[in-house]
Amino acid sequence: MSASLDASRTPPSVEGGSAAVPKHVAIIMDGNGRWALSRGLPRTEGHRKGVEMVRRAVSYADKVGIDYLTLYSFSTENWRRPADEVGYLMGLLKLFIRRDLADLHANNVRVRVIGDRADLRADIAALLDEAETATRNNTGLTLVIAFNYGARQEIVRAMRRLAERVARGEIAAADIDVDAVSSALDTAGIPDPDLVIRTSGEQRLSNFLLWQAAYAEFVFPAGFWPDFDEDAFGRAIADFQARERRFGGLGERVGTAR
Ligand code: IPE
Ligand code: IPE
Ligand code: MG
Repeated sequence: MSASLDASRTPPSVEGGSAAVPKHVAIIMDGNGRWALSRGLPRTEGHRKGVEMVRRAVSYADKVGIDYLTLYSFSTENWRRPADEVGYLMGLLKLFIRRDLADLHANNVRVRVIGDRADLRADIAALLDEAETATRNNTGLTLVIAFNYGARQEIVRAMRRLAERVARGEIAAADIDVDAVSSALDTAGIPDPDLVIRTSGEQRLSNFLLWQAAYAEFVFPAGFWPDFDEDAFGRAIADFQARERRFGGLGERVGTAR
């Protein structure tokens, strides 16, 4: 990513510059293992290549003017994988933050992390804290890293926070409305995703943003995450721009002026 990217935020060429770019794109980066196995490589090679694609996706999102990019990097259920794969993924996250934080910061990217940090190794939790703290005043793309993230667990944490506030007498149970729940989630202050992309052809949420994706558009590219290049990202945005979002009303096309 070059330092000039933020200054040159332009709409993607795929849509001729007039249609709306999604403000928040959330990606389930799936298929690293299958990408590697299909090449006779160990699964870990797919994860390594996946990090390269993360850099490219962040850069592209910034370039086309997406404001929030959420990347599902490790789910609460991914602990079920063999210990060596889990260890490799933890190491990759550390490496990514160590190597890329300065660059992200230089590009005015603000990092947010969602997920349960309490269960993470202290060194990993500290690095995630550092990434957020170092970039908190940046005003460019917000990169939301979903790490040790599970939407059900996030909702449970939010419910507990609200219940504790009720127990302390700060709010009444009747004050709990949609906005109060949204504000108690890890994603507080982040607009809901407009577009959720899942690579690898799987068509499921796997415990990702269950609350926030209530009115998201979904795109399921067939390729694996390590194949998700700028063209594939552009096609997903073009798919989004051809959708009609109605939000329960009578709606208008995504690409038309409001
Ligand atoms: C996505 O790729 C990365 C993580 C879940 C961490 P996978 O590792 O799930 O790859 P497949 O789905 O097994 O091919
Ligand atoms: C979802 O992928 C989690 C991430 C991409 C981090 P999985 O590969 O873990 O999902 P399932 O097991 O196929 O549903
Ligand atoms: Mg998978």
